Amino acid sequence: MFCPLKILATARALPPRVLTNADLEAMVDTSDSWIRDRTGIRERRIAADGVATSDLAAEALLAACTAAGIAPGELDAIIVGTSTPDTLFPSTACWLQHRLGLRGPAAFDVSAGCSGFLYGLEIAAGLLRGNARRIAVVGAEVMSRVVNWQDRSTCVLFGDGAGAAILGPGDGSSGVLGSAWGADGNLARVLYQPAGGSRAPATLATVAALAHTVHMEGNTVFKHAVTAMSEAATQALARAEIRPDQVDLLIPHQANTRIMEAARARTGIPADRLFSIVERYGNMSAATIPVALDEAREQGRIKDGDIVAMTAFGTGFTWAASVLRW
Ligand code: ACO
Repeated sequence: MFCPLKILATARALPPRVLTNADLEAMVDTSDSWIRDRTGIRERRIAADGVATSDLAAEALLAACTAAGIAPGELDAIIVGTSTPDTLFPSTACWLQHRLGLRGPAAFDVSAGCSGFLYGLEIAAGLLRGNARRIAVVGAEVMSRVVNWQDRSTCVLFGDGAGAAILGPGDGSSGVLGSAWGADGNLARVLYQPAGGSRAPATLATVAALAHTVHMEGNTVFKHAVTAMSEAATQALARAEIRPDQVDLLIPHQANTRIMEAARARTGIPADRLFSIVERYGNMSAATIPVALDEAREQGRIKDGDIVAMTAFGTGFTWAASVLRW
């Protein structure tokens, strides 16, 4: 069902420090060519010591509010998608308010891994059908804090960053034409952070075992990511009554080039519509889609009336896709 809304503005925040594949060669037994061949990634951004997820989120949100011509206090709700919250509680969305000295807008996190931004978009679309008039959806991560920097199979993949979008009801010409979302919690252990929560609270032993870092079966993630991202996109396109060749721009979750390309091919969207930033930022989990959206807009790749498809897959497993008329 068509849900009228408009993305009034987008913005991004990326830490200035660049970690290249050559830098990683000096840290673990890897090579630039292995990383580029398997993932497409050349470099990623790493937050400075002391910079938390809410700091990047606040920077992106402020810039997006400025671009939209509103004050953060005018928002009805702030939704932050993240897997790397500042603290287990309160939410990163509330820490973001703390940082901005903000009081009033409802604020909460969505824990859906790399699907967090599109989960947030789906929730925001529902809220805009009610009384809400201005909603911020933010994807923000400091993945570098949960990466095991001794594990070459995971540490080369991730990066830090944040992206924000300000949504309003629009004039009825733009909106979500179709969407799909879902999850399969049976596969939770394929990609997870074993310790630090109520199942295995932080102890000297969990810290010594590096159980607070990303644990992942890469091959299993790869297969499920391709299947779920293409199926979600296909379902959203069918609901939108849009053919794959009518999509002007495809912004998939930017995990790696091979996953994005395989998901695109299975969905049948022409190759020249795929928008990729993974080469420069790596996998920023929930932040990849809003950062990519912002760069695509800046480059003039999205204009009013365009059909924009987004699809994502993440820990949980979770998946989500959305087809918008801009
Ligand atoms: N440098 C050099 N060699 C490496 C590295 C590295 N960084 N990492 C692993 N290897 C080695 C392995 O040890 C293995 O060596 P062996 O054959 O001697 O045992 C060999 O490379 C092949 O390992 P595989 O794991 O089979 O490599 P694969 O081709 O599957 O690529 C990768 C691994 C890139 C992780 C892939 O599985 C993948 O992209 N998975 C998806 C993971 C992902 O994107 N997760 C992000 C979170 S979820 C999401 O965002 C959707």
